[in-house]
Amino acid sequence: MKNRPKLVIANRKMHGNLPDNRHFMQSLLLQTQQHSARYAICPPHPYLYQAQQILQNSRIAWGGQNMSRFEQGAYTGSVSPLMLKEFGCTYVIIGHSERRQRGHDNDETCGERFETALKAGLTPILCIGETLEEYERGETDLVVVRQLNPVIAHVGIEALSRGVIAYEPVWAIGTGKAATPQHAQAILSFIRGHIGLLNEQVSANIDLLYGGSVNPSNAAQLLSMPDINGSLIGSASLVIEDFIRICQIANEYTGLRTTA
Ligand code: PGA
Repeated sequence: MKNRPKLVIANRKMHGNLPDNRHFMQSLLLQTQQHSARYAICPPHPYLYQAQQILQNSRIAWGGQNMSRFEQGAYTGSVSPLMLKEFGCTYVIIGHSERRQRGHDNDETCGERFETALKAGLTPILCIGETLEEYERGETDLVVVRQLNPVIAHVGIEALSRGVIAYEPVWAIGTGKAATPQHAQAILSFIRGHIGLLNEQVSANIDLLYGGSVNPSNAAQLLSMPDINGSLIGSASLVIEDFIRICQIANEYTGLRTTA
């Protein structure tokens, strides 16, 4: 079992407002002060300045939910990785299925985004995962390799280790039907093995997350799996008590809890 501190990231999607965000971040700060697990929050872009004001100099990181694959230019409505960096972001989510499904992203543009994010000094969180139809056809392995390979081709295997990979089956996102811990473990172990064929060190060190209907009731089983280094949390990050409970569970599974 990997003993590194678990990484729990709130993907708040298009939710929140100034007072709600403030309450969320201040409660999280207060209640995780003694934790060793790693936490981050990805609010909608307009709230990154607020996240920076509240979380700077704390253990909690913040990040964007998407970014342009270009650094600047005539791209109305887009946000540059350099802008995310200027507002103190550590992370940026790339290739979330909600963006792939609406045609904003594909395997190729994810590779470009991953590269631009690294260049800007951000840690990209690459989301991959199969649809229900692909799952039912038993194609999960094929799909995750198809989504991962263009990114590796783009940035090279060493650079992949500067990012995070989140396995998020589309059928589990926002449905309340999380993957079983066994399925999530099997796929993340497969992904780690696939990376290991190219570079064993990258495979051992890269953070692999599971996302899709993680909640306080199933988090312990999922986070106890050896290849699950953490989780990307959507719906359960909208209720601060639920999110903090998941953080407590993640902290217990880091095995590095400090009591001071
Ligand atoms: P969910 O979303 O936790 O609501 O399933 C996860 C995600 O979309 O990252």
